[in-house]
Amino acid sequence: MYDKWEELENSIINCNKCKLCNKRKNIVFGTGKKDADLMFIGEGPGADEDIQGIPFVGKAGKLMNMAFDGLGINRDEVYIANIVKCRPPGNRNPEEDEAEACLNYLRNQVMLVKPKIIVLLGSVALKNILGKEYGITGARGNWIEKKGILYMPTWHPAALLRDENKKIEFWKDLKLVKEKMQTM
Ligand code: URA
Repeated sequence: MYDKWEELENSIINCNKCKLCNKRKNIVFGTGKKDADLMFIGEGPGADEDIQGIPFVGKAGKLMNMAFDGLGINRDEVYIANIVKCRPPGNRNPEEDEAEACLNYLRNQVMLVKPKIIVLLGSVALKNILGKEYGITGARGNWIEKKGILYMPTWHPAALLRDENKKIEFWKDLKLVKEKMQTM
């Protein structure tokens, strides 16, 4: 573990710990406020993120930004990262060995950001961070506390593109997060 951002960022530049390195255009490290109280964790970069090197800049990201705007969450005030930093081909889910190889970078990011709340976006984030025993359908919308951090699992923004009801639930979950932030 690195205790300086610069060291962590340098350590990932030529990462070849898993096969996702073969086809990536850019490593999508993370973005936002480096000491944010609120952090979001997604799954892995898609095509747009791979090109730009920034998480959640594609369709799903735009939807997330709209929810942020509506709820008064400032994207510059939060930190956003993913379970894997390189794009899984065809936007498939990251495989277990890929997530395993990458997770220490994320753990290090969490250690440096020291967020009070982490929003887990979708099943891949939930299972990799809190454990395989969790399911997103049952867990979403409920606070889970672990080692002094409050976790809020919710739908992955890409799921909202396919299901209007999930949009409403996503909004509700982020509203809970916003309200909690105001009491902290
Ligand atoms: N989906 C994710 O999980 N992460 C991104 O950065 C973009 C889309």
